[in-house]
Amino acid sequence: MGLKVGVLGVGPVGEHLVRILNERKFPVDGPITIMATRERNEIIDGVPVNVQKVSEDLFKKLDLVFFAEKEGSKGASLEWADNAS
Ligand SMILES: NC(=O)c1ccc[n+]([C@@H]2O[C@H](COP(=O)([O-])OP(=O)(O)OC[C@H]3O[C@@H](n4cnc5c(N)ncnc54)[C@H](OP(=O)(O)O)[C@@H]3O)[C@@H](O)[C@H]2O)c1
Repeated sequence: MGLKVGVLGVGPVGEHLVRILNERKFPVDGPITIMATRERNEIIDGVPVNVQKVSEDLFKKLDLVFFAEKEGSKGASLEWADNAS
């Protein structure tokens, strides 16, 4: 059985991460949960995706989250890393 996986950030790095996870057939249980500052629909790795607004509730449902957002004090790591651990 796979892991419930999330990717936080959907810029070039987040999109590349999703592509690599798909290419390498990473053992994901269900679709990858893609999160950013706001909800919207996007095409990622050729597939329409509902990007979700990052929240504590989403983290609770995930086993593993890759961070691909801004660094430093304005980034999401300081805000969300505790939720991921
Ligand atoms: N691009 C490169 O070639 C490259 C190379 C080396 C290192 N990096 C590093 O990798 C990281 C990602 O790069 P990138 O170019 O993909 O960045 P980017 O285009 O700025 O995308 C950042 C993503 O993170 C989301 N985000 C930022 N702050 C957030 C917050 N507080 N809460 C939730 N989501 C947040 C943004 O959400 P929205 O879409 O909603 O704005 C966006 O989807 C950066 O730290 C960058 O310095 C990038």
